[in-house]
Amino acid sequence: MRLTVIGTGYLGAVHAACMADIGHEVLGVDIDAGKVRALAEGRPPFYEPGLHDVLTANVGSGRLRFTTSLREAADFGEVHFVCVGTPQRRDSPAADLRHVDAVIDSLAPHLHRPCLIVGKSTVPVGTTARLTARLRELAPGVDTEVAWNPEFLREGFAVQDTLEPDRLVVGTDSDRADETLRAVYAPMLRAGVPYVGTDPATAELVKVAANSFLATKISFINAMAEVCDAAGADVVTLADAIGHDTRIGRRFLSAGLGFGGGCLPKDIRAFAARAGELGVGRAVAFLRQIDEINMRQRRRTVAIARNLAGGTFTGRRIAVLGATFKPDSDDVRDSPALAVAAAIHDRGGEVHVHDPQGVDNARAVLPALRYAADAAAACRGADLVLHLTEWGHYRDLDPAALATVVRTPKILDARNSLDADRWRTAGWFVRALGRPAPALGRQPARVVIPHGSGCAAPADGDPLSLSPK
Ligand code: UGA
Repeated sequence: MRLTVIGTGYLGAVHAACMADIGHEVLGVDIDAGKVRALAEGRPPFYEPGLHDVLTANVGSGRLRFTTSLREAADFGEVHFVCVGTPQRRDSPAADLRHVDAVIDSLAPHLHRPCLIVGKSTVPVGTTARLTARLRELAPGVDTEVAWNPEFLREGFAVQDTLEPDRLVVGTDSDRADETLRAVYAPMLRAGVPYVGTDPATAELVKVAANSFLATKISFINAMAEVCDAAGADVVTLADAIGHDTRIGRRFLSAGLGFGGGCLPKDIRAFAARAGELGVGRAVAFLRQIDEINMRQRRRTVAIARNLAGGTFTGRRIAVLGATFKPDSDDVRDSPALAVAAAIHDRGGEVHVHDPQGVDNARAVLPALRYAADAAAACRGADLVLHLTEWGHYRDLDPAALATVVRTPKILDARNSLDADRWRTAGWFVRALGRPAPALGRQPARVVIPHGSGCAAPADGDPLSLSPK
C-alpha cells in the first residue's frame, strides 16, 4: 500500500520506517527541512536504539522517502497517518491540538482522491469527530474519512514496540476504514497480534486510559516508598512481594524519582481537563493526586539531597548521573532528573551533569549547568553524587574507582537500581528512596518536603517542572 506519515518526531519517524519495513511504500512528511534531509540520508534526528538500521535499510530499498510537501503526500498516498505532537498548552493543562489541526487544514485543499486519514497522536476524546466535521467543510465532495489508531510505543523500545505491538487499537466509523487498516497491519495480524476494532471515541480513550493507568501504578509505588521511608521498611521488597500477585504484576512498580517525558505527565493532565469539559471531572479527580505524588518525588529528592549535602547546597559540588527522562533515550522533555539538577543549581549548588546520550538536549534547555564528558569527570571533587536516570551504564560503574575521585563517597540512588551492597563495600554511604537508610553522622531522621505547585499546570519558572515552556 502507499502510505504517508505526517510528522516525523519520535512517533512518526519510527512508524514510517517500520511501515516500510513490513512492505509498504511510505512517504514521510515534515515541515522541518533539516529533519527531512537527515531522515532521507538514513540519519535519525534523535537517539532511538535500532532506528538507524531500519531507516537505512528501507531508505536504501527505495520503499521509504521523505518530503516537506503535503501536496506530494496527497498525490502519493491512500492512507495518511497523522503523527504530530500534542503537547500541553502553555496556558492550561489541556492538550494543544494546533499541530493536528494544521495538518488537516493544510492537507485538505490537496485531497482529490479517496483516502483515509488515520490519527496516531494522543488526543482528547472527540477529536476524530471534530476533525471529520472540519474535513467535510474544507474538502467537500472528496471521499475521505478520519480514523484513530493510537500508538503505545515506548521510547527506547520504539522499533520493537511498533513491529511487535502488544495490541493494535483501531477506531473507525465504517467497515471500509476498518478493512483498510487491517490490510495495513496484515503482517502483524498474521503473526497473531490482537486487534481491537472499535469506534473512534473508544480508541482515543484507550490511549489516555492506558497512560493514566501506568502513571497511577508509578505514583502508587512512590507513595508506598514514602511510607516505607517513614516506617524504616523497604519498598523494593514490597514491590517484589505485591508484584508476585499476577493481578497486580511487578512491571511499572519501580519506585524512585517518578515519571517524566513527553507523554505520561501531559497526558494525565489533558485527560483530566477533557473529562472536566465533558462534565465528569470528578470521576477522574484522582489523576490530580497522581500528578501531585509524582511532582512530590522531585521535591522529596531535592530535600533528601540537601540533607545529605549537610543542610545546604551552597558551596557544595553535586554530581548528577542522568539527564534524560528515562534510559536509552536522549529525550529530556519534562525530565525529573534535569528538574532536580536545575532546582539544586537554583539553590546554590555547583551541579555537574553526565548523561550517556542526553547532554546536547540538556544543555539546550539548561545551559547554566555544567556538563561532563564521562561519569568520573562529573563526580570529580563531588560532595554528593545523585543517580537520577537508571542507565545500564551507571550500574556497570566501578564504585571503588569512583570513590577515589569524589570528595565524599556519598550517593543518593533516586532510581533504586544500583547494587547498594557493592557500593557500600567500596566505601560509599548509599541512600535510596523508600529503602532503609543506614545512619549517617547526625543526619536528621525527618526530611521536610516543601510544598510546591505540584499538579495541574506547573507554575512558570518552577525548576521542578520542565513542562512545556
Ligand atoms: C509511555 C508509555 O509507556 C507508552 O506505552 C506510550 O506509548 C508512550 O508513553 C506515549 O504515550 O507515547 P514513554 O513515555 O516512552 O512511554 O516512557 P515509559 O517507559 O512509560 O516511562 C515513563 C516514565 O516513567 C519515565 O520517566 C520512567 O523513568 C518512569 N517510570 C517507569 C518509573 O518511574 N517507574 C516505573 O516503574 C516505570
